[in-house]
Amino acid sequence: MESASLKFREATVKAKPLPRHIGIIMDGNGRWAEGHGRPRLEGHREGSNSVREVTRCARRTGLEALTLYAFSSQNWQRPSLEVAGLMELLREYLLKERREILDNQIRLNAIGELKKLPEYVREPLEALREESAGNTGMTLTLALSYGGREELVRAMRAVAAKVEAGELVAESITNDDIERELWTTDLPPVDLIVRTSGENRVSNFLLWQGAYAEYVFTETLWPDFRAHELLDCIEQFQNRERRFGLTSAQLRAIP
Ligand code: IPE
Ligand code: IPE
Ligand code: MG
Repeated sequence: MESASLKFREATVKAKPLPRHIGIIMDGNGRWAEGHGRPRLEGHREGSNSVREVTRCARRTGLEALTLYAFSSQNWQRPSLEVAGLMELLREYLLKERREILDNQIRLNAIGELKKLPEYVREPLEALREESAGNTGMTLTLALSYGGREELVRAMRAVAAKVEAGELVAESITNDDIERELWTTDLPPVDLIVRTSGENRVSNFLLWQGAYAEYVFTETLWPDFRAHELLDCIEQFQNRERRFGLTSAQLRAIP
């Protein structure tokens, strides 16, 4: 059961325009574990409880899309035992959350160099992706083996191939031609990007897509980031003015 105060806060947040799509850089699991005198992997495990709570809250609040940065292209360089532990946790997550994802009409999606994932992760991932493909409640995207630069290189190769094939003319390449080749092409524009754990950097997350996103950097470590913290971030977003290069006066003049 969710607490009455959480229900009330969700209703308040819902009464104002919501971000359509939130991206979260889930950082600070290692430091959380260290602070509790536990091995790093315990921090990742506790972090998966945050994933569950934040996803539930996002779904209840009515977001269209939530994208969670779970493993970066660069994270492969971590000690092999930590990488293996993270992969095991991912598999466990996909198996354990399957029922809840399907029951809540969530479409599970993934972006990144998915071929690099071990078979024991890719298999349940692809299965749930297929099983939930028709769900229209919210798209939950896991960024796995994801890197924004890696994504852009891949997009540029695809665009270059079209030029080589005579399907596109180099001088006429548009934003849309590039966006079409990104892994996020079927997702709504990302409105808000949150990073936890007090780090003020984007670490290769949604580099192109974040061009006009609002950013919230919070000190909270990911395992401590739950529904109330998500609502705090949405409220910050709702109190901002997105100008997209215009002046405030111009924005007020738009009906
Ligand atoms: C985020 O937590 C999870 C991943 C990057 C996989 P970290 O493991 O980076 O935690 P810190 O930054 O070391 O505290
Ligand atoms: C970013 O966190 C990647 C994920 C949250 C999956 P990192 O902990 O890997 O980022 P850096 O190394 O501090 O930039
Ligand atoms: Mg980190």
